[in-house]
Amino acid sequence: MNRKQRVNVAYQVLMGILAVLAVGIAIEDVVKGLSKTWNVVDTVILWVFVVDYVVRLVLARDRKRFLKENVLDLLAILPFNSMFRGLRIFKVRKVLRISKVTTTTARIARVCSYGLRWTRNVRAFLNTNGFKYMLLTAVVLTLFGGIGIHFAEGMSLEDGVWWAFVTVTTVGYGDISPHTLAGRVMAGILMLTGIGLIGSITSTLTSYFFSGRKERTYREELVEGMKNQLDHMEDMKEEDVREFIELFSMLFKQSQSLAKDEERAYNYPTSLHMERGTIMNQVYENMISRRSCRAYTTQAVKQEDLELILKAGINAPSGMNRQSWRFTVIRDKDKMMELAKAVGTVLDRGENYDFYRPDVIVLVSNDRENTNGLADCACALQNMFLMAHSLGIGSCWINQLKTICDDERIRPLLDSYGIPKEHIVWGIADLGYAKEEPKKKEKDEAVIHYVG
Ligand SMILES: Cc1cc2nc3c(=O)[nH]c(=O)nc-3n(C[C@H](O)[C@H](O)[C@H](O)COP(=O)(O)O)c2cc1C
Repeated sequence: MNRKQRVNVAYQVLMGILAVLAVGIAIEDVVKGLSKTWNVVDTVILWVFVVDYVVRLVLARDRKRFLKENVLDLLAILPFNSMFRGLRIFKVRKVLRISKVTTTTARIARVCSYGLRWTRNVRAFLNTNGFKYMLLTAVVLTLFGGIGIHFAEGMSLEDGVWWAFVTVTTVGYGDISPHTLAGRVMAGILMLTGIGLIGSITSTLTSYFFSGRKERTYREELVEGMKNQLDHMEDMKEEDVREFIELFSMLFKQSQSLAKDEERAYNYPTSLHMERGTIMNQVYENMISRRSCRAYTTQAVKQEDLELILKAGINAPSGMNRQSWRFTVIRDKDKMMELAKAVGTVLDRGENYDFYRPDVIVLVSNDRENTNGLADCACALQNMFLMAHSLGIGSCWINQLKTICDDERIRPLLDSYGIPKEHIVWGIADLGYAKEEPKKKEKDEAVIHYVG
C-alpha cells in the first residue's frame, strides 16, 4: 500500500466515522437540543464536510454533474442555523417561529443526508466483489449452525447461536467445543465459511478503497485494462496487439484534442458508470448517456475521429448483407449551407434553415428498390451516433431529405455529390462538438412488455 492509498483509506474511514457521529448529534439536537461541547463538535464536523464538498467540487471533472449528483451533500452543509440566528435580531415573533421550524427541518434534512451518505458508502461496499452474498451466507450459516448445534449437542439455543458466531468469525471459544460428529462437521463448515469471510473482507476492503471504482471514467477503465494487458504481455495474441495499438492511438488523440480544446463548452458525459455488481458495462453506459445534440461549437471534428465514426457506420447490420448504402460526407460549410437552404426552401422552413450548423454532416442514402434500405441506414446511423458519443462528439439525426430527394431543387445537389439517382437519403447525421448539454429526454419504460 503506497502513501497515497493509505491517506485515501484513512480519509474515507474518517469521513464515515464523522457521518455516523453527525447523524447521532443531529438526532440528539432534534430530540433534546445540544450542549455547548456537542455544538462545537457539530460545527467542526460541518466545516469538515464543507471543505470536503468544496474540494471535491473543485477537483470534479464534470462540475455540473457533480452538483446534480451531490444535492444532498450540499443540503447537509447549508448553514441554516446561522442564517436564522441572524434573523433573530429582528425579534419578530413570527420570524422566530419560522426560524425554529426551518432550523429543525434543516436539521432533519441534515440527518437524512448524512445518513444517506453513510448508507450509500455501505451499500457500495456491500456490492464490491459480491461481498453481500458472502456476508449473507455467513449470517444464514451462523443461524442454521446455532440451531443445528442446539439439537446435536443439547446446548441452549442462545449458546448455540453464540457458539456459531464465534466459530464463523474464527474467534472460537475453547470452552464450548462440540463432541458429536454432527457438531464437529458443523464446526468445520462454519470455520471454513469464516476463513472465506475474513478473506473476502480483506479483498473487498482492497477493491473498495483502491480500485477507485466509483470515480473511474470510461477512459480510465480503458487505461487500466491496457496496463493489465502490458503486465501480461506474454498472453497477448497478434490481434490483441493490433487492437491495443489502435486503442492507444485513439486515447492519445483524445488527450491531445482535450488539451487543446478551449472552445468546448460542454464535456460529454462518457463516464456515467453503470453498475451491475462490480461490472461496468461501457457499451450500455454509452447508449444510455447519448442524446441528440442541437447546438454545436465551431471546433472541428478530427479526421481520424470522423473515420472511426464512418467505420462504425459501415459495420452496422444490413438486410441480406446488401450494404447498398452510401455515406456522403460534407465538411465544407458553404456546401452544407447550400443544401440546408435548399431544404429550407423546399419545406417552407425559410432560407435560414441550417441543420443546427454542425461541423460535419453525413448523408446516409440507400437504393430505393431495397426494401430494407431505411432500416439499414437507421442501423448505420445509430452506430455512428454511438461511436461519436464515445469520442465526446455530439450528433443528431436530421430527417428532412427523405421525402424531397427527387425535388428539382434538391436532386441536382445530390447529383453533384455523386449520390446515385436511385438513392434516397434516409437520414443525415449531424456531427460536432456540443455547445451545451443536450436535453436528457426521459425514456418510457412502460413500453416494455413481457408476455411469457
Ligand atoms: C427517424 C428519426 C428522425 C429524426 N429526425 C430529427 C430531425 O429531423 N431533427 C431533429 O432535431 N431531431 C431528429 N431526430 C432526433 C429525435 O428527435 C430524438 O432522437 C428524440 O427526441 C429523442 O431524443 P434523444 O435522441 O436525445 O434520446 C430524429 C430521430 C429519429 C430516430
